[in-house]
Amino acid sequence: MTETQRIAAPLLALTFGCLAMAAAHGASDPLTPSAGWSAYTAGQGATPPMGWNSWNAFATNIDEDKILGSAQRILDSGLAAKGYRYINLDDGWVAHRRIPDGRLLIRPERFPSSVTPAGSSFRPFTDKLHSMGFKAGIYSDLGRNTCSQAYTPDNPDLPKGSVLEREVGLYGRIDQDIALYFSDWGFDYIKVDGCGARAFGANEDKVRSGQYRALAPILHMESVSRSDIPAVQAEFAQINAALQRNRPNGDYLLSLCIWGAGDVRAWGKNVGNISRTSDDITPAWPRLLSNFDSAAKRELYAHPGSWNDPDMLFIGKGDFDAEHLVEARSHFALWAMLSAPLLIGADLRSTPQPLMDILGNADIIALDQDPAGNQATLAYDVNDLQILVKQLASGQKAVAIFNRGVTAIDAELTAEHLKLRKDAPITLTDLWSKENLSFTGETKLHVAPRETRIFRVQGTRALADGLYLSEQTGSVNPAVDGVTTPVVDPTLFRSSFAWTGTKGPGERPMYAGWGGARADSAPYGQRLQIADKPYETGIGILANSRLEVRNHGYRRFSALVGVDDSASDRKHGVTFLVYGDGKLLAKSKALKLGQPAQALNANVSGVKVIELVARSAGGSNEQLPVSWVEAALLSAR
Ligand code: GAL
Repeated sequence: MTETQRIAAPLLALTFGCLAMAAAHGASDPLTPSAGWSAYTAGQGATPPMGWNSWNAFATNIDEDKILGSAQRILDSGLAAKGYRYINLDDGWVAHRRIPDGRLLIRPERFPSSVTPAGSSFRPFTDKLHSMGFKAGIYSDLGRNTCSQAYTPDNPDLPKGSVLEREVGLYGRIDQDIALYFSDWGFDYIKVDGCGARAFGANEDKVRSGQYRALAPILHMESVSRSDIPAVQAEFAQINAALQRNRPNGDYLLSLCIWGAGDVRAWGKNVGNISRTSDDITPAWPRLLSNFDSAAKRELYAHPGSWNDPDMLFIGKGDFDAEHLVEARSHFALWAMLSAPLLIGADLRSTPQPLMDILGNADIIALDQDPAGNQATLAYDVNDLQILVKQLASGQKAVAIFNRGVTAIDAELTAEHLKLRKDAPITLTDLWSKENLSFTGETKLHVAPRETRIFRVQGTRALADGLYLSEQTGSVNPAVDGVTTPVVDPTLFRSSFAWTGTKGPGERPMYAGWGGARADSAPYGQRLQIADKPYETGIGILANSRLEVRNHGYRRFSALVGVDDSASDRKHGVTFLVYGDGKLLAKSKALKLGQPAQALNANVSGVKVIELVARSAGGSNEQLPVSWVEAALLSAR
């Protein structure tokens, strides 16, 4: 057991009570129905957070005027009334940690209001933000040190003092620091970065030179498998327990920033409100593609309370400045379709009005904040063009047609992409121009290079009586996705990092995610197909998996199940089971690759959580993709 695990073990049991209870009953089988919803619902993440963060605009060169100046513009411009409410400090605010009592001190020259008779305190600053109607966010790290300490040694904004005084991260200080941030200083949001848990190994120059103490890395960006996931989780469990102690009313938001490392895709959704899916965004189009891709195929891993975070908005700089309104609009539209946090990263004191108008597009904000919380699914997906469809709580849909490339495209949008009837009129409302356009069956849309056309959609549902599971991704949680050997997703766009240029070989594939659960796709990207019969709609997942599905008052569950034709294991059979609040409702026979799909139906009247289990007796899950095709919840019995 590592030190962190030992410290956190009792808290882990508390926070993840269900798991602990299951273990106590000897039920270690992860496919046993939980009769509940295991994704994170604590904190304030019912919809993705909206607000502002200092990092993209200022890096560590922050001060009170810059931050309050942007906050004031959010208020004055009407953005606050549209939902932007968190004002978040990022790296760069700490002067040092006071020894021996360990209290963190704020840089007095940058935050003059923190110099109070009682000592260094952010309380006047958060009081000010609260009085303006905002919530306040703070930044820390899982390790003893932060990212700027790890990667910018000559940065004049770094904490000063002895080795111990410069240890400003959470490691070994979780209870003390969380109490300081949330109870003493009044913050409402914390971003927990991970560089301190990754970049201070004993062999690092900065450690060997005596500048920093060694901390054995528990996170590895370059290796999917070397991270010590239980140790990282244990630290987050301790952070969660401290948050609950200091904010028993649940008024907090926990942001995980470990950039997709440690297979966080599979478990971050159980641990915090938002979870970064990649390394940092930069104001460069190729980097937007990387960050977008890191989240775009994780549609089943985002739910109300637990969102994918492809990083903050970079609208206002570089490829997203006022000279690049097409790109800036795309950035905003895509983040809204992904149900991503909308955290502005610009110095709003000088942001030109056309960019403010983008950030203030209420129709697009409404897509991001839609209460159903369905991250868009990819209805069409090739390298240069993607069509994303998002089911809204109102019953309407949104569609985005995204031209990633450099050539204009006349894209055909069809009723099938939208799962709407092709013999009934469909009306699209352009969310930039507000113009309506109607068609039946299909239409052609001109999409300029780097443009994203985005529409609200009204039509007649192909499935009149209910919703396909792939239309309600926010209500489907791959509690166990069957992945036993996390591997990198080879489909992510890899761009140059601004900080290395083209030196070295370039960005390698890094983020685990290949083979995860997918909507309307088999886990490795093939189309859903059972015994030679292709299907447009369904959930693709690996064998030995368990999906939790929230039931919003539907009466019947129906699906066709089978081993997907993308499997390579011919030998092992898979049994499909449907549970309602823990009780078995339906079960298939054991089905092997090539055998036709079997229909499964279950009465789910009154059931809160339906669980879909695919169990195989042997073999490797990775060779046994299975499909719940045409899986739907229906109103009729
Ligand atoms: C990175 C993080 C950025 C920013 C930066 C601060 O690890 O991804 O969003 O917080 O650290 O140094």
